[in-house]
Amino acid sequence: MLVGSVVPVGVVVVEGAIGAPDVPIATDERALVCGAVSRRQREFAAGRRCAHRALAALGMDLSVIGSGPRREPLWPAGVVGSITHSDAYVAAAVAGGRAYAGLGIDVECRRPPLESMLETVCVPSEQAWCLAGDSPSQRLRLVFSAKESVFKAVYPATGDWLGFHDLELIFAGHTFTVHSGRWSGVTGAHQAVDDLQATAAWLPALCR
Ligand SMILES: CC(C)(COP(=O)(O)OP(=O)(O)OC[C@H]1O[C@@H](n2cnc3c(N)ncnc32)[C@H](O)[C@@H]1OP(=O)(O)O)[C@@H](O)C(=O)NCCC(=O)NCCS
Repeated sequence: MLVGSVVPVGVVVVEGAIGAPDVPIATDERALVCGAVSRRQREFAAGRRCAHRALAALGMDLSVIGSGPRREPLWPAGVVGSITHSDAYVAAAVAGGRAYAGLGIDVECRRPPLESMLETVCVPSEQAWCLAGDSPSQRLRLVFSAKESVFKAVYPATGDWLGFHDLELIFAGHTFTVHSGRWSGVTGAHQAVDDLQATAAWLPALCR
């Protein structure tokens, strides 16, 4: 359990391996990636299969989970959710019942190169936090993943297209909080297992 360990109560997570035996997805879903390379088709299909299983756990049987104009998954009314894939790993998370206004998950396997990415991803306080750790590149990967999760929670709910420097995160234990700006107070959680870094972020329903 990786993403399953970082989501809040009420969120259903289905995790799997992209290399798992192929189960066909709906033609209308396949059409969304028909021009893509085979690796992209496989990861997309694996994500959609996890998402359908997660929706089934909420009692929903959807024929197609579409993609919006900015690639965001299109969930049924009253549902928030998110999909991530990284190398062999894939997961989908969904929540119904209007408990959350947005939900984002992300998993990263590679560490971004410190020299070229530290300033791109981090505001100065985060740069200092990364450099103060035993493994700055591991902390940088965590900041990167956490911001991707916040983005995935915020964009479908609001249309707000965040850049890395629009967020300042503070980390404490296995949690993080957005410290400044419009999304101040949004929280998330993180966990690293083997060489995978997982994060999740969520917007309480009041943010809607
Ligand atoms: C979507 C994004 C955040 C992560 O994509 P990625 O690197 O391919 O990583 P993942 O595999 O973890 O996630 C991909 C999934 O995210 C979801 N996704 C894509 N665009 C999305 C969006 N605009 N909103 C919410 N979810 C989105 C999709 O489900 C996608 O998988 P699918 O196309 O197979 O359905 C990134 O590519 C992106 O679009 N970034 C632009 C904004 C940004 O990064 N800002 C800085 C952080 S604040």
